[in-house]
Amino acid sequence: MSAPKHFLQFRDFSGEELAHLFERTRWIKERFKRYERYWPLADRTLVMIFEKASTRTRLSFEAGMQQLGGFAIYLNTRDSQLGRGEPVEDAAEVISRMCDIVMIRTFEQDIIERFARHSRVPVINGLTNEFHPCQILADIHTFIEHRGAIQGKTVAWIGDANNVCNTWLQAAEVLDFTVRVSTPPGYAVAPALAGLSGMDHYREFADPMDAARGADLVTTDVWTSMGFEAEDAARKQAFQDWQVDADMMRVAKPDALFMHCLPAHRGEEVAATVIDGSQSVVWDEAENRLHTQKALIEYLLLGRVTR
Ligand code: CP
Ligand code: NVA
Repeated sequence: MSAPKHFLQFRDFSGEELAHLFERTRWIKERFKRYERYWPLADRTLVMIFEKASTRTRLSFEAGMQQLGGFAIYLNTRDSQLGRGEPVEDAAEVISRMCDIVMIRTFEQDIIERFARHSRVPVINGLTNEFHPCQILADIHTFIEHRGAIQGKTVAWIGDANNVCNTWLQAAEVLDFTVRVSTPPGYAVAPALAGLSGMDHYREFADPMDAARGADLVTTDVWTSMGFEAEDAARKQAFQDWQVDADMMRVAKPDALFMHCLPAHRGEEVAATVIDGSQSVVWDEAENRLHTQKALIEYLLLGRVTR
């Protein structure tokens, strides 16, 4: 049996594969909006394993699988044997004999990598401490819908060098754009952890205003990600000056977009006037989780569909 293809990090896909996914996303989304049935995955089953909370990821995978004619099963650590110490390798062997594809949201990237090594079926990263590749698929599709190709463009990342930031950095290498990052001292990008092959596609700025200057897209995320709650008080102090506000949007390009993966904390990483303002495309981003992931599941299970 040949090894299945997985989506564990953004760089698992080439630029050419991503172009195919974005084209399929457009087709699948248009058809869905016209209420035209597309059920290529009848009788296929997705298992979703959540070790952390979720609204968008759970809903978009579950609804998406059903809209493709398949089924989705939700498992969490609390009421499965995963929470009682069953080795991840054993869980992968068993789960992957009973379904066609698996989505996992967990803590360390190592957990999902180990699961994938023992899985007979494709595994999708639904967020780890290090990466959130499905989010950036949706974000880049959203950028393309609003502004066209992202190649050669500039993205400003303001705040924590977290899983979403690391994934933007990988995406910049694969799709050839630049990320201008500004993080507080002590919270900088770790290139090895981000899985970067070089430093050609990002620049670091001490002052967030400098990072935002001239950007085509300004984006941020919570100051405290899931799993880091114990650091919350220290982070609230350290990140005070890393809020995306109207002044910051003013130094970006006049037609710059604002994105946030959500959930957001207005008054912390983003001002309400920005996230609720005219440059914000956060609801499109959230919706596009559904459409891009349907294209992703189609690709992992059926290969290059061209109809
Ligand atoms: N953006 C995102 O992944 O949201 P959830 O945590 O609600 O899934
Ligand atoms: N960086 C955030 C993203 C949530 C979707 C977290 O990991 O909690």
